[in-house]
Amino acid sequence: MAGIYQEVNTNFACGNNRVALANYYSDVVGYLHTHANNLAVMISLYFNVNAGQSPANWTSLWTYVLVQRGDGLIRQSVLNFGFSNSLTTMSHFHPVDLSHASRLINHGPTVLITTSHGNRRNVMAAAWSMPVEFTPPRIAVVIDKSTFTRELAAASGTFGLIVPGAGMIDLAYAVGTTSGRDIDKFEHFGIDTIAGPVLGLPLIETNCAAWMECRLISEPHTEDAYDTCFAEVVSAAADPRIFSNGHWTVDDSNTPLHTIHHLGAGKFVRASAMQIAQPIAR
Ligand SMILES: Cc1cc2nc3c(=O)[nH]c(=O)nc-3n(C[C@H](O)[C@H](O)[C@H](O)COP(=O)(O)O)c2cc1C
Repeated sequence: MAGIYQEVNTNFACGNNRVALANYYSDVVGYLHTHANNLAVMISLYFNVNAGQSPANWTSLWTYVLVQRGDGLIRQSVLNFGFSNSLTTMSHFHPVDLSHASRLINHGPTVLITTSHGNRRNVMAAAWSMPVEFTPPRIAVVIDKSTFTRELAAASGTFGLIVPGAGMIDLAYAVGTTSGRDIDKFEHFGIDTIAGPVLGLPLIETNCAAWMECRLISEPHTEDAYDTCFAEVVSAAADPRIFSNGHWTVDDSNTPLHTIHHLGAGKFVRASAMQIAQPIAR
């Protein structure tokens, strides 16, 4: 059962101020939630075709608003006037505070790198990534110069980093052993995406533990000599079943989301036996 709230003709310059828009809906839904006996609140979003936004921008905008809410108050419901691509895949991820972003790859999982430039998009596997700074959150990934991913990342100055779960092993291996130069791997392998809230990058959530959107930091020497690309993380989110409040919880209830670690030749191990270090009595 959902509460219904009707709002008529509120005009936002939302293309420019998505933070204000997210805050506004946060306030409205928070208020309704308090006064509606904890009923879920559903919003229907109207998009004015004449307002000059592209469908991608619109999708990215509302994904941002919904991801920012993060507490399940706003579920979905998009009245899509004028475009056929509605937000069919709603994010169930929760935002990760950027000061905790490094923890998403601290333990060295195999990740997926997604890219988009013009009308091309792509995804590949990468075993070699690591955090290099907490604040601002910065990471490094080895992306070989022969890959299509490197070409798109260099052209757009951005990439997405996905932390796939064990339920993604076959797909992770498949996108790491094919090139996107001639195929759209998302389409070819049937991989659903959402649009990143800040950079609009294609991000994957099904059977994945987390994602980040990253802006490349230009370092021509390390890129040329070592294929090592540095980037700043500008948004991050995780599946709360395995990562919340800045911490991983790995147990038998979330096996498909356990991160994967490549041993070579298509063999992976799951990170599944969590142990907590205890103080040593002396
Ligand atoms: C498990 C796995 C890990 C990989 N790790 C990396 C890596 O860290 N860096 C890299 O450049 N390529 C890595 N690769 C290879 C790329 O994913 C592969 O070259 C891919 O086909 C490139 O796709 P693209 O041309 O569509 O960008 C990995 C492949 C696999 C299967």
